[in-house]
Amino acid sequence: MRPPLRVAVLISGRGSNLQALIAAQRGGTLPIEIVVVASNRPDAEGLRRAQAAGIATVALDAAGRRDRAAYDAELFARVAAFAPDLIVLAGFMRVLDAAVLAPWAGRIINIHPSLLPRYPGLHTHRRALEAGDTVHGASVHFVTAELDGGPVLACSEIAVETGDDADTLAARLLPREHALLCRCVQWIAEGRVVWNDGRPHVDGAPLTDALRV
Ligand code: GRF
Repeated sequence: MRPPLRVAVLISGRGSNLQALIAAQRGGTLPIEIVVVASNRPDAEGLRRAQAAGIATVALDAAGRRDRAAYDAELFARVAAFAPDLIVLAGFMRVLDAAVLAPWAGRIINIHPSLLPRYPGLHTHRRALEAGDTVHGASVHFVTAELDGGPVLACSEIAVETGDDADTLAARLLPREHALLCRCVQWIAEGRVVWNDGRPHVDGAPLTDALRV
């Protein structure tokens, strides 16, 4: 039996993806230990969820911090002190400095509410609707210095329905995000997904196409 994967979760707000990880871990389907939850916003609801679950928290207010690189270095030093094996960005709404990411290559993932490479950045639901897409979804990708640009590990699709607006689309996608993120963290925790030679491998073979959840 391998020891549970030590996971740090970075959030900026609601923390429903964090809550899904906590629930899966408690339910016995996710062999992880969430060692810390960190936020750039001290008022993030997700920090309260972490505290309620007895998880250590770091609240490092980014407001008024002009030196982005120095802020990122401080945040990552605080997180690294908990010795995570994996950092999960779950609604963490900041672009991270390349220098802090470099040592974590292959050990940091992000959940993004679009079918990457479509719609990196913000307002993904609105942009999918404006483009007339009939299929929308969410992706989990390894984080590189390029915004929402690292290798996509897996995605989950939903149909766009007549009458959808950005809010209905987001609401219907959210439970799929939760399942997708939990599944990806599970694969990493079980050692099925590993980072080798600068790219993800699944069950021993280089990942060519994003997996479907
Ligand atoms: C999710 O839609 C996630 O994909 C995006 O931000 C949202 C965070 O939601 N990056 P929550 O904080 O996990 O509830």
